[in-house]
Amino acid sequence: MPRPLEAPDRLRVSVVGTGYLGTTHAVSMAQLGHDVVAMDIEQEKIAMLSECELPFFEPGLAELLRKCVEAGRLRFTTSYDDVSEADIHFVCVGTPQLHGSFNADLRLVETAFTELARRVTRPTVIVGKSTVPAGTARRMADAVRRQAADGQVEVAWNPEFLREGHAVEDALRPDRLIFGVRSPRAERLLRAVYRPIIEGGCPVMVTDYATAELVKVSANTFLAMKISFINAMAQICEATGAAVLPLAEALGYDDRIGRRFLSPGLGFGGGCLPKDVRALYACATDLGLDDVATFIRQIDVINLSRRDRTLTLGRELLGGSYARKRVCVLGAAFKPNTDDVRDSPALAVAVAAHREGAQVVMHDPVAMNSARRIHPEIEYADTVVTAAREVDLVMLLTDWTDFEDMDPALLSGVVRSRNVLDGRNVLTPERWRSAGWTYRA
Ligand code: UGA
Repeated sequence: MPRPLEAPDRLRVSVVGTGYLGTTHAVSMAQLGHDVVAMDIEQEKIAMLSECELPFFEPGLAELLRKCVEAGRLRFTTSYDDVSEADIHFVCVGTPQLHGSFNADLRLVETAFTELARRVTRPTVIVGKSTVPAGTARRMADAVRRQAADGQVEVAWNPEFLREGHAVEDALRPDRLIFGVRSPRAERLLRAVYRPIIEGGCPVMVTDYATAELVKVSANTFLAMKISFINAMAQICEATGAAVLPLAEALGYDDRIGRRFLSPGLGFGGGCLPKDVRALYACATDLGLDDVATFIRQIDVINLSRRDRTLTLGRELLGGSYARKRVCVLGAAFKPNTDDVRDSPALAVAVAAHREGAQVVMHDPVAMNSARRIHPEIEYADTVVTAAREVDLVMLLTDWTDFEDMDPALLSGVVRSRNVLDGRNVLTPERWRSAGWTYRA
């Protein structure tokens, strides 16, 4: 944990937007020693956070939130007026995919910048952390110039690379800090705010706006590309009789490739990778870079095809149809250690099986409430064993470690048919087969 700043070095920091990114950023800024006010227009969220309750699941964050609030270094508000005095502002609002388009919806970002610029009373820097297409920071700089007195407000871009499930660690010990700035003043302020992290050895890169914006979307697109690449290889392996897991391991020994993000299976989801790949595709298309756009588009296409392939394998295990079959789905979250179900591959497959006539019973260690809110038509069970009772097929679709360690012998006694589909390649096939199960992955 970086050593917190002493009083004279503390800054007044404002954070606009208290989703995963904003809440984690606000807490980590307070943890570094700054005086932080976090603002969101959603009253319910702010009420919960003020009571030290997280509106989402994130390991380790609740403890730090309480610590910072109790130390008086972090408070929450629903009013822009309460953040106008800060030395530096961070915009952490969401940029979801626009309905009916591949582009990101930038309305919340635009509002945050203009609302802040209208209120600031002294020179300050508004730093964008949200993931945006290249060109946004320049537009925001023009917009704030129209709102604030000359030279009062500068814009900087400082993308965030935190992963859900590891958010605290990623925020306090990032791999790198990227400062997209136009002036030494903005760079100095960013260096001051991140000082304990920089002193801990974190590399800093100072770039122009567009590069800073693109680092983020290209990092996510590269990760997505690795996943789609190994999933494309999985298809070639299936067709040739080769084994994709040893293939991934062999590739991973090459330092230039690396083993991470080469786990084949149901593919990527969540609030970030899918929308960032699509936004970069939209950007390449707008720029008239057709070959580049085609290349990026295939990452998404291959990824989505994994959901169909998983459904097909399940159908085969059920003898050709989901109709009137009872199916246990293990996992609702888009990945382990989160309750986030945005664009969750597991949930998408469960809903598709339900639409094909299956009676789906789902279990997830933490994401059941999030899933139930948007898909009440699915049945939810509190334990793996109750979810598996009298089912014709068990589908493992999110790779929680709880599921990896399941005992096939124990489940044999509760299911109707011993069929298991390992959508994440995390079970040990021999263990399941020797317990009498038909195993597919
Ligand atoms: C991702 C990036 O990893 C972060 O660096 C980035 O800051 C964040 O998006 C963001 O833009 O805010 P996250 O969405 O939390 O973080 O999820 P990842 O850990 O990247 O996983 C994404 C998806 O890929 C998950 O559905 C996961 O199950 C899947 N995945 C991952 C695979 O299918 N195979 C793999 O080998 C690895």
